[in-house]
Amino acid sequence: GGEGPLSGLTAIVTSGPTHEAIDPVRYIANRSSGRQGHAIAAALAGLGANTLLVTGPVSQPDPAGVRVAKVETAEEMLRACQEGLPADILVCAAAVADWRVAKTAGQKIKKEDGGKLPVLSLTTNPDILATLSKPGRKRPRLVIGFAAETENLEANARSKRERKGCDWILANDVSDTNGIFGGAENEILVIDTAGQESWPRMDKQAVAQRLAQRVAQHFANRKKR
Ligand code: C5P
Repeated sequence: GGEGPLSGLTAIVTSGPTHEAIDPVRYIANRSSGRQGHAIAAALAGLGANTLLVTGPVSQPDPAGVRVAKVETAEEMLRACQEGLPADILVCAAAVADWRVAKTAGQKIKKEDGGKLPVLSLTTNPDILATLSKPGRKRPRLVIGFAAETENLEANARSKRERKGCDWILANDVSDTNGIFGGAENEILVIDTAGQESWPRMDKQAVAQRLAQRVAQHFANRKKR
């Protein structure tokens, strides 16, 4: 961590997709560029936080000034986060695959197999945000998640915040073809315990800066009390 309002604090940020192997050459994944998560890690580090970025496979360059742990699967992502604890701040911006294949094939599945289609049996992946939000000695002091919603943005994001047990949710309307996925811009509604705050449409760098500022403000207020 460097100099700044977050110096002395540690942060973990998840970013990118996870890849869940079907066989040695195929996988299940969500779409995610990692742009938002990487920008958040850079912004927190820019304000002085000692920052660990835990990222799935992306084509983004490693941001300067952060430690980077590269993972493939949701289970690896959770483990890398746990190894990074304790931390003051956790931001879960990764698009984690909700399921993985129950039994990964050791060899490439052949398509010539008598014309029979393979059947994938899935099992549930850990929810990293919900797991690390659970009350306990190692819970980060401020846990922030994202919610991509296609309808009832506020109500769905608010109930997601409660279900996951995190402190803030940055909710994103992805209903129209507004190019938010993989695009440069985001339109954010912040839900916290006190209420909500809507941000104008801005690029992902600006979202990251504004979030980092809000985090700094949060810790500044706490220190005063
Ligand atoms: O449940 P949903 O995927 O909509 O929640 C999104 C939030 O939860 C994001 O912050 C995402 O990073 C996090 N998440 C997670 N682990 C999962 C699924 C989602 O950390 N397995």
